[in-house]
Amino acid sequence: MRTKIAGIGHFVPEHVVTNQDLTSYMDTTDEWIRERTGIEERRYATKHKESTTSLGAKAARIAIERAGIAPEDIDFIIFATLSPDYYFPGCGVLLQRELGVTSKEVGALDIRNQCSGFVYGLSIADQFIKTGMYKNILLVGAEMHSMGLDFSDEGRAVTVIFGDGAGAVVLQPADKEGQGILTTCLHSDGTHAEELAMINPGSHGGYHLGTEKFGYPDPATPGGVFVTQKMMDDNLLSPNMTGQLVFKTAVVKFPEVINEALTKVGLTTTDIDVFVPHQANLRISQFVQKVLRLPEEKVVNNIQKYGNTTAASIPIALSEAWEQGRVKEGDLVCLAAFGSGFTWGSA
Ligand SMILES: CC(C)(COP(=O)(O)OP(=O)(O)OC[C@H]1O[C@@H](n2cnc3c(N)ncnc32)[C@H](O)[C@@H]1OP(=O)(O)O)[C@@H](O)C(=O)NCCC(=O)NCCS
Repeated sequence: MRTKIAGIGHFVPEHVVTNQDLTSYMDTTDEWIRERTGIEERRYATKHKESTTSLGAKAARIAIERAGIAPEDIDFIIFATLSPDYYFPGCGVLLQRELGVTSKEVGALDIRNQCSGFVYGLSIADQFIKTGMYKNILLVGAEMHSMGLDFSDEGRAVTVIFGDGAGAVVLQPADKEGQGILTTCLHSDGTHAEELAMINPGSHGGYHLGTEKFGYPDPATPGGVFVTQKMMDDNLLSPNMTGQLVFKTAVVKFPEVINEALTKVGLTTTDIDVFVPHQANLRISQFVQKVLRLPEEKVVNNIQKYGNTTAASIPIALSEAWEQGRVKEGDLVCLAAFGSGFTWGSA
């Protein structure tokens, strides 16, 4: 048995933030951002009115409708995000509530795999469908990065890259020969976990990282503090990234994991009809495209309009490509992602 995408949808907030707009908060330029990342603009959700879950719910409703089912037909929820509404519980249960499907008490799983979250979620859903456990899985990737970014000069290398948005798919057992997910490949290497990370707030208490730096109290004192005054004073509550290490590793791991998937199913890069990479950085996608020798028309890039939306980037790009008629029945579609962890994967 295979798993098919029965419905897909995406939602991005209305508010467009151009590179020029960012120059009023930080020392940056439109040229710098375009040249290094390809990004021209991104969307920001409305503070206090929207959240990661509300964006995810909007995308989910579209995917559910396109699958020709009702929210009550969903029998499992998977939610991938790095910018959840709450530290806990996760967005899965909040989405269940927002969709009004609490009566069936279906399972809700949150996955925290950042940029590879959608590919990991797809693989998890695929296993549940293939074993016959579930028939209608809702997988959502959603992010509201704008709430957690550092808009000072210090945060500029990270902040200019990220945007808000959501994408969703409904997964069902495939009903036709040759249809559905052929394979998924998942990997990780925690060696550089802190090189693309938001480590605060967290339970590390400075462990391995130098307690003093974070202003934690004497370790003998019972109880802990997730957030210290020093973290706030020293601006240690936003994401950090060693950009060049991420870039160098990504351009190796993307082709590797794509070739792994192709080899597993006896195909080659020339068989790919549509390649939807995680929208990390246009330069990374272009590099991977060159290594794989894919013509430009086979590669879906929309980072120019939305920035990097992490767990939402693949479902948004796939949904847009499908709406534009770029993904047709029978096409061989390749999805691949790399990001924080490092974790990476392909489908
Ligand atoms: C982030 C990235 C664009 C930075 O490009 P880079 O060429 O590596 O740039 P560097 O970090 O070496 O910085 C170069 C200079 O630009 C400056 N700079 C950083 N951000 C800037 C910004 N937004 N605007 C203007 N200048 C900026 C730096 O301070 C540095 O200045 P200096 O030379 O005076 O010290 C690049 O490393 C990258 O794309 N990495 C991958 C990131 C990614 O894909 N992340 C998502 C993973 S899922």
